Amino acid sequence: MNSHIISLKGIEWKQKDKTILKDITWNVEKGEHWVLLGLNGSGKTSLLNMITGYQWPTNGEVNVLGMRFGETNILKLRKSIGWVSTSLDERFKHHGGETASEVVLSGIHATIGIYDEITAEDLNRANHLLQQFRIGHLGEQKFSSLSQGEKRKTMIARALMASPELLILDEPCSGLDILSREELLQTVDQMNRSEDGPTLIYVTHHIEEVIPSISHALLLHEGSIVASGEKYKTLSEENLQDTFELPLALEWDNDRPWIRIQPHNNRSIDFNNSY
Ligand SMILES: Nc1ncnc2c1ncn2[C@@H]1O[C@H](COP(=O)(O)OP(=O)(O)OP(=O)(O)O)[C@@H](O)[C@H]1O
Ligand SMILES: [Mg+2]
Repeated sequence: MNSHIISLKGIEWKQKDKTILKDITWNVEKGEHWVLLGLNGSGKTSLLNMITGYQWPTNGEVNVLGMRFGETNILKLRKSIGWVSTSLDERFKHHGGETASEVVLSGIHATIGIYDEITAEDLNRANHLLQQFRIGHLGEQKFSSLSQGEKRKTMIARALMASPELLILDEPCSGLDILSREELLQTVDQMNRSEDGPTLIYVTHHIEEVIPSISHALLLHEGSIVASGEKYKTLSEENLQDTFELPLALEWDNDRPWIRIQPHNNRSIDFNNSY
């Protein structure tokens, strides 16, 4: 058994004639928190699908939490992985009758069976998580009536209910206003700093969401790794330009990276021909 949280070796994933992931070798160690950056269609979600066992690579080796795929009960492994993405919000549309705290509590089913009894300790934990995300006062409100930001916080609290070792947040701030985004980022930053918190994989299109506690970055372009490693080295102007196909300037401010798009004219689109 190795001590990596994630270890991918030479991953390749082909669908029909298209190679979606190419030669991905990536190690995540305990104590690290990673951001995953790349354009639409660069392969971020495909890569997460490999880690959670929803897709099998065409070639290569996947080890997650010391367990090698193929030798492991994937359902058991998934219980140690929390995954929050906007597509999960959709899934919860059908649970409109549940309150926020019932949705958080339902996260416990990832670790104990659906038919096990909820204990007072579980209830306390759910309430504590809601408070941590500053929505303690919304516990009794119907999930369907929460704002987008409140729903997102509820879903992250739900994922944490099972005390996962690995937490994947796929664009958690999409659709949030600037205040809700900063509140959510602050809570995630605090979670990252706590000793017993999960290892985080954070996927985003917005580089300024790379909060100080994120230590490492993986940049993807057309299914290949542009660069990966310690964030200050990896998030260089050159690497980001290769990742986003745009000339840009990077500035670190309060331990967060901000980018400005530089003037360019080689990518103008001729809309006249479109109609
Ligand atoms: N099951 C599949 N069959 C065929 N092609 C797929 C499949 N899943 C993903 N793809 C293709 O693989 C590429 C990468 O998709 P993926 O969803 O991983 O991108 P992404 O980086 O998550 O993009 P976004 O930022 O838009 O979420 C896309 O071109 C997509 O169309
Ligand atoms: Mg995606």
